[in-house]
Amino acid sequence: MLKKANWLTLETPELVADLLKRQAIFEPQETLVRLQPAGEGNMNVTLRAESDRRSVIVKQSRPFVAKYDSIPAPLERIEFEAAFYRLTESHQQVSGQMPRLLAWLPTHYVLVLEDLGPAADATCLYADYPQVQLPDVIASLVMWLKTLHELSKKSVDVASLDNRALRQLNHAHIFQIPFLDAPAIDLDSVCPGLSAATQTLRTDDSLRRACLELGELYLSEGDFLLHGDFYPGSWLLSDRGAMVIDPEFCFAGPAEFDLGVLLAHLQLIGCQSPLGAIQDLVADAPVYAQLSWTLVSRFAAVEVLRRLLGVAQLPLTMNLAARAELVQSAHDELLAGPPAT
Ligand SMILES: Nc1ncnc2c1ncn2[C@@H]1O[C@H](COP(=O)(O)OP(=O)(O)O)[C@@H](O)[C@H]1O
Ligand SMILES: [Mg+2]
Repeated sequence: MLKKANWLTLETPELVADLLKRQAIFEPQETLVRLQPAGEGNMNVTLRAESDRRSVIVKQSRPFVAKYDSIPAPLERIEFEAAFYRLTESHQQVSGQMPRLLAWLPTHYVLVLEDLGPAADATCLYADYPQVQLPDVIASLVMWLKTLHELSKKSVDVASLDNRALRQLNHAHIFQIPFLDAPAIDLDSVCPGLSAATQTLRTDDSLRRACLELGELYLSEGDFLLHGDFYPGSWLLSDRGAMVIDPEFCFAGPAEFDLGVLLAHLQLIGCQSPLGAIQDLVADAPVYAQLSWTLVSRFAAVEVLRRLLGVAQLPLTMNLAARAELVQSAHDELLAGPPAT
């Protein structure tokens, strides 16, 4: 349990400072001069705590989704985020592209992380991606993901990363809720006409079955250490290049899931031939010798659908016709041929 008295917020600078001193991150006489939201988050409370000597990120979980407090979420999810940092910290090729974990306080459900600076996350890519060197960013992120997946075959013990309760919640939001008869959100307020334009496809029984089959794979045990939420909201475009944050959805699962989520978001960004772009970078990698690219494409399709039709919306600028076209092609992808395993 996390007592409410220990909830860190913008209104509790004394608590934050005290905690940082107890962890010897701040020195005894050091003063907290500024406490701000670290950036746009969804699930947790993430703060930037600054003294005149340093700046750190303090991240605390809650027994609900911080942005939508009516949605319960497992408080313990942050334990898995901490475990991910611990499992990867000695692997420079992975940890070098992430913030360092400075402290983990299980009693307070708090992580203290290196501050990568006030760079925005990469969700700006949905609106104006030509402003960055997208091929370089993609290459760097794909190589990071491949290196992460390779760790599972080396010394890293992924068996402890069940993350079951958070996976159950995510399963509902990816594989079920977007396909309810009555949408869980007002789709027309996202984009006028979206509800009617997608009604038939959304509620197609064979589509629902295909999604549930994929959902079973998402919930099953797998061999690979996955980031679990590999999309622009988990990437920071910083002075040090493309960095990866927020591995709270990590679990030991199928590599196709991480690659599929990546592929979906490259489609939503509007990249040309995104599957080919990923394959050019990693198709020959031994770690992916057994990989099913069909399964990658199917996970991508369901991720596209849930982002267009589900609760976790993105700052997309595309019009109704473009959205309807993406829904149609994701639907067709999910129903083409036999189930991918
Ligand atoms: N180590 C960090 N350095 C700089 N900014 C960060 C760091 N960690 C998080 N942020 C900022 O805080 C935001 C929310 O953090 P995130 O870990 O994604 O929280 P949530 O789990 O709530 O999504 C990020 O989008 C980013 O802007
Ligand atoms: Mg996040």
